Amino acid sequence: AENVGILAMELYFPSQYVDQVDLEKFDEVGTGKYTIGLGQSKMGFCSDREDINSVCLTALHRLIERNNINLHDIGRLEVGTETIIDKSKSVKTFLMTLFAKEGATDVEGIDSTNACYGGTAALFNAINWVESSSWDGRKAIVVAGDIGLYGKGPARPTGGAGAVAMLIGPDAPLIFDCGVRASYMTHAYDFYKPDLACEFPYVDGKLTITCYLNALDNCYNLFCKKMRNVDSNFKGLLSLDGMLFHTPYCKLVQKSLARVVCFNDFLNASPNDRKQQFPGLSQFDNYKREETYFDRDVEKAFMTYSQSLFEEKTKPSLHIARNVGNMYTPSLYGGLVSYLISKSPDQLIGKNFALFSYGSGLASTMFSMKICKNMSAGSKLERLIKSLNNTVSMLDERQCVQATVFTDLMDVRAKNYQTAPYEPSGSIDVLFPGTYYLVRIDEQRRRRYERK
Ligand code: ACO
Repeated sequence: AENVGILAMELYFPSQYVDQVDLEKFDEVGTGKYTIGLGQSKMGFCSDREDINSVCLTALHRLIERNNINLHDIGRLEVGTETIIDKSKSVKTFLMTLFAKEGATDVEGIDSTNACYGGTAALFNAINWVESSSWDGRKAIVVAGDIGLYGKGPARPTGGAGAVAMLIGPDAPLIFDCGVRASYMTHAYDFYKPDLACEFPYVDGKLTITCYLNALDNCYNLFCKKMRNVDSNFKGLLSLDGMLFHTPYCKLVQKSLARVVCFNDFLNASPNDRKQQFPGLSQFDNYKREETYFDRDVEKAFMTYSQSLFEEKTKPSLHIARNVGNMYTPSLYGGLVSYLISKSPDQLIGKNFALFSYGSGLASTMFSMKICKNMSAGSKLERLIKSLNNTVSMLDERQCVQATVFTDLMDVRAKNYQTAPYEPSGSIDVLFPGTYYLVRIDEQRRRRYERK
């Protein structure tokens, strides 16, 4: 199969959000800490009416419906998530209810679980299958979803929730390149969920940031090295049209672009190129990569240097992250959606991107994607952007909930996390049409859903 990539794509975010300005007041932190310091505007959240199965079902059903997908044409269904409820029973098996109804049960694939990275692992599985000898000519679907919640405290404003569903196959408008994936994986206790009786993670905030920047540093350098093997003229960010990141909060991404990407390009440039491309930055000639993550001078200088590069290549990808928060495994793909809808198909044709996926624990990969040049894929691209525009416009139809009410709803979720039997109390009225919701958990902890 050739030109394997994303044929169609859909996104789901919750119909309720809390405003970060309101949250700053409620949490009694300095005005501007969440909105300017973290760069966040709004945070989507789910009441006890939704869980990981329902948000994934909602995204999957939307993708199937909007693209008239015949489920017998799907040979693989992959799920990426870090939200676990039935431990041994995968989310994928729940999603099979839609397929089994049509008698379509010959479907490979299962869940990939890791903080924020599971979606990328699932995507790679799907791409690899279509490119492999076991491929049978059918398409694959990847669903990545999470409900990202933190306990009360400084991490809470960096939560979020949502799901993405992607149809994967050959002759795609969004094509993934082969041979230039660069990964960095190692062990770290920066963020993990050892308490199975609680939805919240254990998180060491400062350590997560160091781990994220260090992973980016390693992936980006290896990625550039691999790219130079393919194209000796590859000049890092300058050779890319867009650079998309997993987005825990928007400010971290802007700093990452400056501190890691541009600083690495600076260190990697020949002395001549350095003088030309990076005027006025020679005082950093002898600085070391790993020692600069929290260096304010480097940050300031490279934030200024990278401002216009950021505006052009990265900022358009932050729209959903700023308005929904960290969706965890779908975060990077929400970035892709944001970028795509910020441009017209004409502006996108032939463009190439680098994507950085990061998951605590830790797992990370940088990989590349380009946008098709041929006409048949071009019309698929047009359809894809139109459909995503419809979805993203629903951001404005959401209901704003006061921080006090949000906190109460989170307390209900936390208190009943392991209650059975259980009937959720969250509003059904507030949900978007087409949303799956939890009706009841019975004595055996079996969950029943309906669709609005
Ligand atoms: N006005 C403007 N800016 C302010 C204000 C204010 N009143 N008050 C603080 N700030 C700035 C700070 O200077 C800081 O900016 P800086 O990074 O440039 O120094 C920023 O706001 C955040 O303030 P901190 O005091 O550093 O925030 P805190 O330590 O309380 O929490 C953190 C931030 C660690 C990100 C926390 O929200 C967290 O733990 N989140 C979850 C983990 C996370 O998202 N990690 C990222 C990568 S891993 C992942 O994806 C899960």
